[in-house]
Amino acid sequence: MDHQKLLDTLIPRAWEAAENAYVPYSGFRVGAALLTKDGRIYPGCNIENSAYGPSNCAERTAFFSAIAQGEREFAAIAVVGRFVDGSPAGGDGFAYPCGVCRQVMSEFCHPDHFLVLLESGSGERKVLTLGELLPYGFVLKDQ
Ligand code: THU
Repeated sequence: MDHQKLLDTLIPRAWEAAENAYVPYSGFRVGAALLTKDGRIYPGCNIENSAYGPSNCAERTAFFSAIAQGEREFAAIAVVGRFVDGSPAGGDGFAYPCGVCRQVMSEFCHPDHFLVLLESGSGERKVLTLGELLPYGFVLKDQ
């Protein structure tokens, strides 16, 4: 699938997933849509907790849900986020995956082949490889 088709398929699914975010503390909704190599899509949202530490990011929710259902081969993930009042993330407005989520991706995905698709709060889109997001990642086994 070309990048445009991937974006058009996965970005709306990620925004849809963000609607289920449980964010009483940050007020920042994140949604993810994880595409397996054989075409299945697993949604994820962030799920916060009053003790803060147990909170889970949208990307890891999607990965862990897919892994728990037997999936191991992944092609791409779309990640989007904005505050409940509609305002965008800080910086350039993209909700970039955090370092922990990048490391989880690297456990299951090839740095040169796995794509991370992003849409900012203002509708700008970006396609990155996992390797661009996590250069020199720690690995014990190759993908
Ligand atoms: N968050 C994600 O869901 N994914 C990321 O990669 C970065 C941060 C969530 C965690 C928390 O619920 C909220 O965004 C604000 O940090």
